[in-house]
Amino acid sequence: MAIVAPDMLSDMTRLVGTGPAVGTVAVSMTTERLTIGTPAERDAAALFAMTYEQGGLPVTSKLLWNGPIDLDETRAWCVKYRDNDFYDGGHHWVIGDRPHPMKAPPLVMGAIGLTPGNQPGSAHLGYWLGEAYWSKGFMTEAVVAMCNHAFEVLNLHRIEASAFLTNPASSTVLKKAGFASEGVRRACAYKYGEWIDELVWARLRTDR
Ligand SMILES: CC(C)(COP(=O)(O)OP(=O)(O)OC[C@H]1O[C@@H](n2cnc3c(N)ncnc32)[C@H](O)[C@@H]1OP(=O)(O)O)[C@@H](O)C(=O)NCCC(=O)NCCS
Repeated sequence: MAIVAPDMLSDMTRLVGTGPAVGTVAVSMTTERLTIGTPAERDAAALFAMTYEQGGLPVTSKLLWNGPIDLDETRAWCVKYRDNDFYDGGHHWVIGDRPHPMKAPPLVMGAIGLTPGNQPGSAHLGYWLGEAYWSKGFMTEAVVAMCNHAFEVLNLHRIEASAFLTNPASSTVLKKAGFASEGVRRACAYKYGEWIDELVWARLRTDR
């Protein structure tokens, strides 16, 4: 009789759409034009430069997060999310180009992440790109790949994302990636001394 290890058993009995097993770590992936890689310490300087203080404002003014306090914070983020359990803050990746195999590593362009929601199998999606890389279809490509990964590899059921009402580019990305609008959460985000409305978007595994 074959012996079934306890961790195999929990995977076999895991219900469809209830999320990954405890201890699941992120894996890197590629799309046609992008590397979506688990963070490495060498990525920190480029990520920091695109999000720090005044120079980072094009990115951080559209996010609840106001950017890192210093380079050490970004370095610590890269180290934590290199091989992090999904249930300990989620999985986060660095978005880069797909260099020729002889020219490594990829050019760092931004980040994307899935953070566990408050129900089994649900997660919140967040993302940003440095301003130089906007409007080339990169984030739509990354979000489509992330949804496939979330449903097929992480066994998620629902991916939620929210965009400031004043950020139509982000809502366009979500719409193009198959998300449905679920309405406006009024005055739910506090940024720079103002309450901002957010548009809520979600995609379900059954939407595909
Ligand atoms: C939002 C963001 C991720 C979009 O990334 P991107 O790679 O430029 O997105 P894409 O090129 O895939 O798609 C953007 C779409 O928005 C459209 N768009 C851009 N500005 C727009 C505007 N002001 N109004 C309406 N649509 C707009 C683009 O035309 C494009 O649609 P199209 O391909 O049909 O022409 C990027 O602008 C960014 O990082 N912004 C700062 C951080 C941020 O907003 N993060 C998301 C928080 S919810």
